[in-house]
Amino acid sequence: MNQVTIHWDVVIALYIFFSWCHGGITNINCSGHIWVEPATIFKMGMNISIYCQAAIKNCQPSKLYFYKNGIKERFHITRINKTTARLWYNNFVEPQAFVYCTAECSRYFPETLICGKDISSGYPPDVPDKVACVIYEYSGNMTCTWNPGRPTYIDTKYVVYVKSLETEEEQEYLTSSYINISTDSLQKGKKYLVWVQASNVLGMEKSKQLQIHLDDIVIPSASIISRAEDINTTVSKTVIHWDSQTSIEKVSCEMRYKDTTNQTWNVKEFDTNFTYEQQSEFYLQPNAMYVFQVRCQETGKKYWQPWSSPFFHKTPEIGKK
Ligand SMILES: *[C@@H]1O[C@H](CO)[C@@H](O)[C@H](O)[C@H]1NC(C)=O
Ligand SMILES: *[C@@H]1O[C@H](CO)[C@@H](O)[C@H](O)[C@H]1NC(C)=O
Ligand SMILES: *[C@@H]1O[C@H](CO)[C@@H](O)[C@H](O)[C@H]1NC(C)=O
Ligand SMILES: *[C@@H]1O[C@H](CO)[C@@H](O)[C@H](O)[C@H]1NC(C)=O
Ligand SMILES: *[C@@H]1O[C@H](CO)[C@@H](O)[C@H](O)[C@H]1NC(C)=O
Ligand SMILES: *[C@@H]1O[C@H](CO)[C@@H](O)[C@H](O)[C@H]1NC(C)=O
Ligand SMILES: *[C@@H]1O[C@H](CO)[C@@H](O)[C@H](O)[C@H]1NC(C)=O
Ligand SMILES: *[C@@H]1O[C@H](CO)[C@@H](O)[C@H](O)[C@H]1NC(C)=O
Repeated sequence: MNQVTIHWDVVIALYIFFSWCHGGITNINCSGHIWVEPATIFKMGMNISIYCQAAIKNCQPSKLYFYKNGIKERFHITRINKTTARLWYNNFVEPQAFVYCTAECSRYFPETLICGKDISSGYPPDVPDKVACVIYEYSGNMTCTWNPGRPTYIDTKYVVYVKSLETEEEQEYLTSSYINISTDSLQKGKKYLVWVQASNVLGMEKSKQLQIHLDDIVIPSASIISRAEDINTTVSKTVIHWDSQTSIEKVSCEMRYKDTTNQTWNVKEFDTNFTYEQQSEFYLQPNAMYVFQVRCQETGKKYWQPWSSPFFHKTPEIGKK
């Protein structure tokens, strides 16, 4: 008669792995202890040791096993003493993993779970750079962004500091990416210093300080291309209609356009008064698909609107309207 072999290691591995996936590992009762040296969260690429110590009633473990993400480890395991074993990893680069260990108490008994742990590796934050704060007109917010640098893979928090240069008063905002600061909370004058501090368990970095004047960072309300009109004069002429709800008087704009089969943009610049809808004339090739985009800034300031969404227009064939 064939003996039926139950692979208890597989059964336990699946059970543990699925309860981990569903966040249920905290409900598992440990019969012992698992720990990581140098730490549970460590710098990516380090060599680490994972220790497992059994404390199971009436059990003198004959073997101790380690699993990573449900898969049994075969190498670099050292038995330290009767209750404890060590698993060593060289150059550990996985951002997240779950490890657990089991004990074999006797040959006739299923493996018993000792304990499990989430481990993660990552990097300390880079120095945040390219800190920029803008006020989208009518938004009621100052939006501050920065370049966080390379991914850290681990939970990283940013604190945005805003200090009034007039009253020296300082405010802090905690976030995980960019931040919107209500302009109502910026009543302490017009000039501020802004900087960003990044931190996680592996380190902390501070950006350079950015000096801002609230009047210099307003981005005019979005510009929108509404329609195109082909005029059948002797030369083929297209009029592009575009507008913005901005209340800023002096606005500089750029309209870029190209034949969609061409890589190169043509750019036209305008000093615009949005009291009226804008109408701009273009002399284009007939029977071609063109794309237009516009963007504006308050004249003389630093920040531009993003390019408007592409507006496509096909010019008529020669001789036809
Ligand atoms: C863990 O132990 C507690 C208290 O002994 C028990 O109520 C619970 O059912 C155990 N959980 C598991 C998953 O064995
Ligand atoms: C990791 O271990 C290897 C092999 O023992 C060694 O060459 C290397 O220097 C160690 N790396 C670190 C970061 O300790
Ligand atoms: C076994 O080794 C571990 C790790 O070095 C230690 O904490 C533990 O006390 C030792 N146990 C015995 C029984 O020697
Ligand atoms: C201003 O920021 C707040 C908080 O982030 C947000 O709830 C609100 O929608 C923003 N206002 C506008 C007009 O986007
Ligand atoms: C922040 O403000 C910008 C511009 O007002 C808005 O588009 C964005 O949705 C806001 N973000 C949040 C998280 O409220
Ligand atoms: C354009 O063509 C239409 C029909 O062919 C004609 O009625 C109209 O006068 C033309 N307009 C111009 C500006 O040439
Ligand atoms: C824009 O046009 C309006 C209406 O003609 C005029 O009152 C205003 O002075 C113009 N603004 C600028 C900056 O030229
Ligand atoms: C693409 O556009 C550029 C700029 O308008 C123009 O000089 C060039 O001839 C165009 N190329 C083609 C293949 O149409």
